[in-house]
Amino acid sequence: MAEIQTVGVVGAGTMGSGIAHVFARAGFRVLLCDVEQCFLGRAITQIRTNLGREAAKGKLPEAEIEPTLARIQPTLDREELAGADIAVEAASERFEVKAELFRSLDRILPEAAILATNTSSISITKLAAQTHRPKQVIGMHFFNPVPVMTLVEVVRGLATGDETFATVHALAVKLGKTPVEVNDAPGFVSNRVLMPLINEAAFAVMEGVATPEAVDQVFKLGMNHPMGPLTLADFIGLDVCVDILRVLQEGFGDPKYRPCPLLVRLVDAGWLGRKSGRGFYTYEKQA
Ligand code: CAA
Repeated sequence: MAEIQTVGVVGAGTMGSGIAHVFARAGFRVLLCDVEQCFLGRAITQIRTNLGREAAKGKLPEAEIEPTLARIQPTLDREELAGADIAVEAASERFEVKAELFRSLDRILPEAAILATNTSSISITKLAAQTHRPKQVIGMHFFNPVPVMTLVEVVRGLATGDETFATVHALAVKLGKTPVEVNDAPGFVSNRVLMPLINEAAFAVMEGVATPEAVDQVFKLGMNHPMGPLTLADFIGLDVCVDILRVLQEGFGDPKYRPCPLLVRLVDAGWLGRKSGRGFYTYEKQA
């Protein structure tokens, strides 16, 4: 099994910074790469805050915060990923963006390195086909907030090798996560099941069956979900939900996955959920 010491994280948004956080926390050296200095700056601030939160809860010694941050090297230069044993791509959820990244990571990273993606729905098999190392391409799907959620959906593409799977499975365990193996299919398991729930909740609101608050109460109190589906949709990002539903609709060719018109309308208005300050609910400060 390949030994992993240095991890390249590509994309410093909410997921990328969470992924960098958990790798650094587990002792790995992290190269955190994005295209704008402001994204990197925001990610480091977010990681510092979240490490502080863990320290305040007594889960991390205060003295570990700075050494953990010091293991993360932010960079605007993708070529620096030549020093990584694995890359975890967490860029935006568009096939063309990820395809371009995979072609370039394939050129930059050492021949033996693994190329993983945190995609929530795009085909691992198709991304692998962009590279000359399809055996070493795999899905490593984390959940938000990454430092808190224990699941990693480990997704095997058609060509993913057993050694790659074993390395990534062991890596997730080293991060203190629980890896669950799934095969490549639109939305994998998580979003194939979650997105129709969110979509149906949006239809219930659109059709006047109940308010967003009532729908969420049903799931919080009746099913013990920590967040109702519409609060969760705002948390994930309504644009992300619509993008994933479109991947499901196209991938299965089944109209049952068509995004609810209310979801689409909210996205068209720029009401993307928590990150824009408004979605099904309004938020005082942007998260
Ligand atoms: N970093 C570190 N720690 C964090 C954190 C963060 N970003 N956010 C919350 N926490 C910690 C808190 O410190 C707290 O720790 P303790 O249990 O030790 O006290 C714990 O998480 C709970 O947080 P809070 O008490 O502040 O708030 P809460 O009880 O309302 O829980 C929540 C917040 C963990 C987000 C909870 O509401 C929850 O689990 N929601 C569901 C989240 C979910 O379903 N995520 C998956 C989304 S789907 C996805 O990500 C993938 C995809 O493909 C779309």
